[in-house]
Amino acid sequence: MNKYFNYQKGEGFIEGCPLSALAEKYGTPLYIYSEKTIRESVRRFQKAFSGIAPIIRYSCKANSNLRLLEILKEAGCGADVISPGELAITLTAGFTPKNIIMEGVGKREDEIKFGLKKGVSFFSVESLSELATLNRLASKQKREITALLRLNPDIAAGGHHYISTGKKENKFGLTEAEVISVLKNPAAFPHLKINGLHLHLGSQIDSPEPYLKAIKEAERLRQIYPFQFLDLGGGFPVRYDKEMAEIEVFGKAICGAIKKFDLPPHRASPARGEDIKIIFEPGRHFIAPAGFLLTRIIYRKDRPHKRFLVVDAGMNDLIRPSLYEAWHNIQTVREPKGKNNSFEIVGPVCESGDFLGKERLLPDTIKEGDLLLIGEAGAYGFSMSSNYNGRLRPAEVLVSGKKSRIIRKRETLENLTAQF
Ligand code: LLP
Repeated sequence: MNKYFNYQKGEGFIEGCPLSALAEKYGTPLYIYSEKTIRESVRRFQKAFSGIAPIIRYSCKANSNLRLLEILKEAGCGADVISPGELAITLTAGFTPKNIIMEGVGKREDEIKFGLKKGVSFFSVESLSELATLNRLASKQKREITALLRLNPDIAAGGHHYISTGKKENKFGLTEAEVISVLKNPAAFPHLKINGLHLHLGSQIDSPEPYLKAIKEAERLRQIYPFQFLDLGGGFPVRYDKEMAEIEVFGKAICGAIKKFDLPPHRASPARGEDIKIIFEPGRHFIAPAGFLLTRIIYRKDRPHKRFLVVDAGMNDLIRPSLYEAWHNIQTVREPKGKNNSFEIVGPVCESGDFLGKERLLPDTIKEGDLLLIGEAGAYGFSMSSNYNGRLRPAEVLVSGKKSRIIRKRETLENLTAQF
């Protein structure tokens, strides 16, 4: 678990805030974020890759809370957005359009138009039809519109088959043949600056190897046309249950490969004579370890074959265990003492798939009313939450040292009925 979670006199704290007091003040279930963790993750990433000074565009899908976006922007990130919704939030958070890239396998024409109108100049393109549409819409723009071609490189990467995106059976990207056809004849899209590749491979990638393969592929394609940008996407891992390679290991391997990549004759390439510029789009790595889900035990049900703890957070609040069989650390907020027993941590939703943890060892003395803390919940936690079963989305709180403040209000019954 995150180093900013610790026990003081038997009671769990995040940074300088006691968790029982946060539960009392804001209610449960509650998402809690540690500001120090976010800032440290970004700084450490920047340092690990300082050899190539990459452009960093935080992937908002991991968590698009406005206040967290403000922190990420201040820390030096741009943004990768996947929808007009994410674009609107990032603009509200103060990101400038020139630091935003618009992505997605299924952008509608009206969505591309919305992006252009808001000043976005960088697009990742995933099909030839989309490229033609973007070219047509770009003809009406006064500024230069840059297209990065998203290549499906047929490289296996990613922690679960739902989150691996770079294999040929996945829906993402252009085929290599399509990319080559565009790179050989960029003049077919006169209103666009075709100026790079986008190679997001998957999420929770456990070693630098897939990135190195992607770099090799880009190096080969750059012989055809000396584009300027190579967007290697996100995918950097965090530690849930398994130990993962540290970000410095990725930094060393990727910087090494890029530096070689950058040697002449490419540097003296005729078209632009510019060095390759690397873009990253980390989501999970920046925000997962900073976020926690605090939940209260409603009922304890001891059965001859199993002990259930029914808690007040469910799959609608954190769907990762149900959807990907993901493992999240679960701890008691009171420091554990005495003998442990095995428990099933389940939510109140009407589905057997509604669980947060299975066969977890927790103190046998645990009782109704106690609090549990679920770790590494900052990425794809709140952003994938829903109103399933008519449940209200939790509040979100930001902790900075001894201070805490609400950064998203808990939903109300009025929110639920407002759309009808
Ligand atoms: N760039 C692109 C084009 C992406 O599709 C993604 C994630 C990212 C960047 C950021 O990837 P990250 O650095 O967070 O790994 N809901 C799943 C993860 C889905 C990832 C989707 N794309 C989960 O909870 O594990």
